[in-house]
Amino acid sequence: MCGIIGYIGSHQAVPILLDGLRKLEYRGYDSAGLAVAGSGGIQILRAAGKLSNLEEKAYGTAMPGMTGIGHTRWATHGAPTEANAHPQVDTAGRLAIVHNGILENYASLRAELRAAGTELTSDTDTELIAQLLGREEGPLLDRVLRILPRLEGQYAVVAISADEPGELVAFRQGPPLVIGVGDGEMLVASDVTALLSRTRRVIFLEHGDVARLSLDQVTVFDGAGRKVERAVETLDWDAARAEKGGYRHFMLKEIHEQPDAVRNTVLAYLDQDRRGVNIEGFGLDPGRLQKIQRVQLVACGTSWHACLVGKFYIERLAQIPVDVDYASEYRYREPLLGEDTLLIGVTQSGETADTLAAMELGKHAGAPLATVCNVRNSSAWRLAEARLLTQAGPEIGVASTKAFTTQLVALLLTALALRKIRGFEDDVDVRLAAQLQRLPLALAKTLETPDQVYHRGVDLLTATTDALYLGRGMLYPIALEGALKLKEISYLHAEGYPGGEMKHGPIALVDDGFPVVAVAPRTPAREKLLGNLREVQTRGAAILAVAEAGAPGFEGLADLILPIPDVDHFLQPVVSVIPLQLLAYYVAVELGLDVDQPRNLAKSVTVE
Ligand code: F6R
Repeated sequence: MCGIIGYIGSHQAVPILLDGLRKLEYRGYDSAGLAVAGSGGIQILRAAGKLSNLEEKAYGTAMPGMTGIGHTRWATHGAPTEANAHPQVDTAGRLAIVHNGILENYASLRAELRAAGTELTSDTDTELIAQLLGREEGPLLDRVLRILPRLEGQYAVVAISADEPGELVAFRQGPPLVIGVGDGEMLVASDVTALLSRTRRVIFLEHGDVARLSLDQVTVFDGAGRKVERAVETLDWDAARAEKGGYRHFMLKEIHEQPDAVRNTVLAYLDQDRRGVNIEGFGLDPGRLQKIQRVQLVACGTSWHACLVGKFYIERLAQIPVDVDYASEYRYREPLLGEDTLLIGVTQSGETADTLAAMELGKHAGAPLATVCNVRNSSAWRLAEARLLTQAGPEIGVASTKAFTTQLVALLLTALALRKIRGFEDDVDVRLAAQLQRLPLALAKTLETPDQVYHRGVDLLTATTDALYLGRGMLYPIALEGALKLKEISYLHAEGYPGGEMKHGPIALVDDGFPVVAVAPRTPAREKLLGNLREVQTRGAAILAVAEAGAPGFEGLADLILPIPDVDHFLQPVVSVIPLQLLAYYVAVELGLDVDQPRNLAKSVTVE
């Protein structure tokens, strides 16, 4: 995901900015750039691809100046080209900005600026901020305060102006920004990793803050321009911990990145006015797709669970029959496959050997071939004709979290695209597009549950060695995923089952204190699941339920509710998995295990 660095001090800015960008590389990016405010105005350097491309350019360019900004960009709006890389400038070239996040009123601002005769040189929402600033007059800080009410969405921005080369202005709403207070110099970055080589004294900006940085002073304001106090903290983190953005483990960080990851994935595939899916964005050939009679989903592990939910999405929304197979089994079962079957390989890494082999099989059989993948230019990406990139950013924790939720969203978008191709004419996609845009808020709300709630769940799970996870319908795959998460990182044995199957065998396991985790948000089938839970309760089970706080039917039944907000049925799988990820995480931490690198597991399984 994108990274920001800014510097003002008594040294040349470019080498310091490049060093900061190197530290931010782990976040993943596909272009990079920097800008310096010097005596001759603003100088900009940008390059697509790896940071070494930018470094090469920088070595050949004189860019004197002691105030500057740098950025690594993970493309969401607009291709990863040099023109779309940051910094972006206004038309006069007198100011430059870098930006993390997404403007939600992108389309209306763009139209407004165009109507006013502003010539836009990129596809980014970032340029719109630069242009808005360029249209204002006066000191940079005043300009920022004036345009803030125009910006809807999420942003962390750092700006420089040729007219005030002794200043940086930073402001945020959503994505983080941290200021580094150095010795005769100031830095600002999207995470502390980029600052640590120069200072350990930092100020974490809060949501809505605007900060003016000079060589020896930081002043922080609220959005109305009133001064606010922010404490300077001294970090004692080591660099590895800092890379985790302050989280104890990558897995926890990645769990918390899900609102952003999901938002980015949703916005990447909605049309300009965000009222439906943008089919062109998938690169699918609508003519060929109109002929398909079946969809075949292939994947492994967590990605296979996403496919099980995807089957519900595609069958319900596009009315096309869907088969889901483990990629490792598929190629050995001599599948019936031809031009009438759309084969989709779902893979976070794009390098899983079994999934690639299943996709190859599809290719040879002449099936239209697509992938839902998190890594641009991976093997799956190159093999497929149609690609849908999940915008999860690099996932480092071995146990998949944000890759899974973005896969669910991607499969829902695929279902909506297929629905459109099949000619359904109603407002279902408009309704779901609106719900999808609200989904990040529901995820953020779910993440607000205090840790103590999970600790009660940890006590119930660590008192025994086995657990049963139950769900029904499209929440059954979430029960499977919850059980897999627990197994992977805590090494406790857990099984996922459809609620109705429970009395056909697994109920034999239940006795006093046996934990049963129910994925039980509000659905027409919830009553039936409550019935299944009463059956295990009478046999002594301890029941943990993922459900809306205060939902009826759980009093006297559940020992613990892991609360989620009430969301549209199609979005319940995405929201319901969050408490299960956190539960598994806290159990593993309690057991003192290596959460990010569990024994025997690899992040990418490139062998059969
Ligand atoms: C579980 C997990 C694995 C992967 C599986 C497929 O947390 O991460 O089960 O989902 O190895 O990997 P990809 O999606 O990269 O093909």
